[in-house]
Amino acid sequence: MKHLIDKLYETHNLEEDEFIYLLENYDKEAGDYLYSLARTCSQVHYEKEVYIRGLIEFTNYCKNDCYYCGIRKSNKNASRYRLSKDEILSCCESGYELGFRTFVLQGGEDPAFTDEAVVDIVKTIREGYPDCAITLSIGEKTYDQYLKYYEAGANRYLLRHETADEEHYSLLHPGSLSLENRKECLRNLKKIGYQVGTGFMVGSPYQTPKCLAEDLAFIKELSPQMVGIGPFIPHKDTPFASFPAGSVDLTLFLIGILRLMLPNALLPSTTALGTLDPKGREKGILSGANVLMPNLSPIGVRKKYELYDNKICTGEEAAECNVCLRNRVASVGYHVVEKRGDFKE
Ligand code: 5AD
Ligand code: FES
Repeated sequence: MKHLIDKLYETHNLEEDEFIYLLENYDKEAGDYLYSLARTCSQVHYEKEVYIRGLIEFTNYCKNDCYYCGIRKSNKNASRYRLSKDEILSCCESGYELGFRTFVLQGGEDPAFTDEAVVDIVKTIREGYPDCAITLSIGEKTYDQYLKYYEAGANRYLLRHETADEEHYSLLHPGSLSLENRKECLRNLKKIGYQVGTGFMVGSPYQTPKCLAEDLAFIKELSPQMVGIGPFIPHKDTPFASFPAGSVDLTLFLIGILRLMLPNALLPSTTALGTLDPKGREKGILSGANVLMPNLSPIGVRKKYELYDNKICTGEEAAECNVCLRNRVASVGYHVVEKRGDFKE
């Protein structure tokens, strides 16, 4: 086991069967060894700094019907909302006060936000906050659409590939979505010049170690600037309601692997990790993560953006989470910094 982790540390990659072996056989000792190398690696590039991103969940309308997701279009129990441009801007304003220098506009694939609307919002934020990064996370679009948003001032884009295995992809999504198109979107985003984030859920229904090895190979090939992973958590109003949640330990182990594969990547310790384990986000940082993405959305809509059950921080104001997170980060010997936190080449 140790020799595979050493090989990963030195060469930043492994063969598929080696990844599968690691994922099927890792134990506490292997984990501890991996995490100590992962911390060394993240500290070489980012010291003990943790970047924060202010997440603005501006619409929970979605035209897609992903089987795992709580805001899928068929979920009649979801109470739908859209933030107005003014509401989005006031999230930025309070976020800036709290020290955020990156805003992430995330939403379902909502046709009501036309390209003109998105461009208008991005331009306004760009003008108001020239020192901030703007990240979009609004799903699959065409090359031309991505280009328009980029020209309006967006810098980064998050689009998880969810799984790099064709068959697994079709078990998680209805036929209207394809892995091929998802990959094409990611390639287009890179081509345009965005800092790109992809990622996947750990322990999603029907996932096998081979699927995870394929995820790692795809990520290596794409070479994104950011990779977000979190455990799958069932949502009661979805077809996957009765599947078990993914494993926190396996998620942490994969964060460690990703840190060794992509030494200078931006790796978030996700809210899903914090939802399954009260110390999940701290453990993520100790496994090699260096980003946190707290919520800036107005408290009144927080609960409505429930992709999975029991999501944390839906009752806390942004200011409360901000203090809470800084303390959590400090408790493991790291510190939150008020910087854009761009990818370091
Ligand atoms: N459990 C965990 N993560 C989920 N996501 C969507 N639904 C769930 C769920 N039930 C993740 C997807 C998506 C991101 C925004 O949230 O990976 O890309
Ligand atoms: Fe939201 Fe702790 S981060 S309450």
